[in-house]
Amino acid sequence: MCGIVGYAGYRQAYPILLESLKRLEYRGYDSAGVAIVGSGITVQKDKGYISQLEETAEAVPGTLGIAHTRWATHGPPSKENAHPHIDCTGDLALIHNGIIENHQPLRDRLKGEGHVFRSETDTEVAAHLIESLYHGDLEGAVREALHEIRGSYAFAVIHSKEPDKVVAARNESPLVVGLGTDENFLASDIPALLKHTNRVLYVMDGEIVVLGRDSVRITDYEGKPIAREPQRITWTLEDAEKGGFEHFMLKEIFEEPQAIHDTLLGRVAEPELNSFFREGYTGVKLVACGTSYHAALVGKYVLEEIARIPTTAELASEYRYSKAPADRPLVILLSQSGETADTLGACREANRRGCKTFAIANVIGSSLSREAQRTMLTRAGIEIGVAATKTFVAQLAALYLLAIRIGLERATLGVEEANRLNEDLRRLPRAVQAVLNQAPYIEGLAQEYAKARDVFFIGRHLGYPIAMEGALKLKEISYVHAEAYAAGELKHGPLALVGSDTPVVAIVTRDHTYDKMLSNIREVDARGAPVLAIGTEGDKDLGKIVDNVIYVPAVPPLFAPVPVVVALQLFAYHVARVRGCAIDKPRNLAKSVTVE
Ligand code: AGP
Repeated sequence: MCGIVGYAGYRQAYPILLESLKRLEYRGYDSAGVAIVGSGITVQKDKGYISQLEETAEAVPGTLGIAHTRWATHGPPSKENAHPHIDCTGDLALIHNGIIENHQPLRDRLKGEGHVFRSETDTEVAAHLIESLYHGDLEGAVREALHEIRGSYAFAVIHSKEPDKVVAARNESPLVVGLGTDENFLASDIPALLKHTNRVLYVMDGEIVVLGRDSVRITDYEGKPIAREPQRITWTLEDAEKGGFEHFMLKEIFEEPQAIHDTLLGRVAEPELNSFFREGYTGVKLVACGTSYHAALVGKYVLEEIARIPTTAELASEYRYSKAPADRPLVILLSQSGETADTLGACREANRRGCKTFAIANVIGSSLSREAQRTMLTRAGIEIGVAATKTFVAQLAALYLLAIRIGLERATLGVEEANRLNEDLRRLPRAVQAVLNQAPYIEGLAQEYAKARDVFFIGRHLGYPIAMEGALKLKEISYVHAEAYAAGELKHGPLALVGSDTPVVAIVTRDHTYDKMLSNIREVDARGAPVLAIGTEGDKDLGKIVDNVIYVPAVPPLFAPVPVVVALQLFAYHVARVRGCAIDKPRNLAKSVTVE
């Protein structure tokens, strides 16, 4: 996730672009850059925050330009990898938010044609591709290039030979036009526009915009004009930064379909990673903290089932005290931030023990991604709410991908079965969306449960780590005491605590543990506990034996943790909201825990 802005008008573009860009810094801040059309194009960029760019850049004159704040996905944060990227001639400058899925074959081809690349980014291929198609018509060249580019993107491009326009396009990444008088604006998101205008045009997937000082033209990829009525935005700036959501956490939960989609994008074949998993270990150890540890627990079942490899999950804070086993496992470290001290310590320890180390992290260039031997990025974008939500489902998506990869590499999984699993994976964003559509219903339910002092979460098999994650979400943001138990363990102790004032949240999706879960529900029901079940759509019988049910779409059992956890995140969010808690910044907690 990056932030892009563009301006065409009568005022000096530089200060407007930088000021607007700062409003998008929540979308990423590892490097920034600006390009202004004056006499030719001047590009200035730097690593770090926008304030760093301001210190090093000059306010060059010009009334048209583009600017970018980056959240790295391809190539670490650096001046070279910062946007804008230019073509070989320096006449064209381009900014991009998203991921170009087929960047490698395009790069190879363009290099073969003599184009010289200056960065490691996927974005730079778009600059050279448009250059190769440019014959005096920027809009036409962009249109042609888009027929070749696969992936998600919002682009904005300028050319020194056509100094009166910004050409932009969108597919699966946000883009909005702001309409002014004798000036027009372009941005990834509304906050960047609000200081100048509240009249906006939302650009849709498959559309190209040509932005000029006194005109805005939208067409489809075939050049057919599209008429669109402007909308008037009534949000305050703070509302706008949260995309109109009351809290970042809710916004981030609603970004989950995109987070999963982006994490899967172009990942089915990455030959370089494949060979990494081929040999040199007999088992896998997943190591992490907090929510990432819960993803690791899910990963254990997933790897064992898909890749048929013995797997354990361990808390990072405990791993370093364990004895090094004689056989060295592949150690997979999971961390949203990539800066968690315990997880970093575990990575160092695993490296010291001579293990292969692999990180799943959300922040490129983070310490963990540098210290592990290889890294897979979850492309969830920046997560601001202290409670991890979209990064958790992105971690699960990465683990499914990894399990398929390892299974194929070690020939414990057939190609046909892998294709079927990949198809199931691709359907997950839709299943998540179906849960999000039930947010108003879950909000209603939360009213009922918000007064509870203690809540128990129960599940079996894959439902158990998800019960743990549901309990963690509830306790960290609503301060309700919540505990998760493997449902079979209830009768070995915790049942003594269950009564009419202890609601039980039970995960009862359709899998091989279903009947046993129903028995456990009857046990708590017999003690008078109100039961909220998370069940599979169409399971009418479940509704008859519990007090409330949140139904999630039927997906293959192995993938059920994804839709189920979304329901639990929404539940925790709404309970915390009813209780008036500081949802995005819960007491005593920090987004990144850099102490041991
Ligand atoms: C989750 O909601 C947390 N706030 C916390 O448990 C977090 O998952 C943990 O600190 C690990 O962080 P990491 O993923 O950045 O390593």
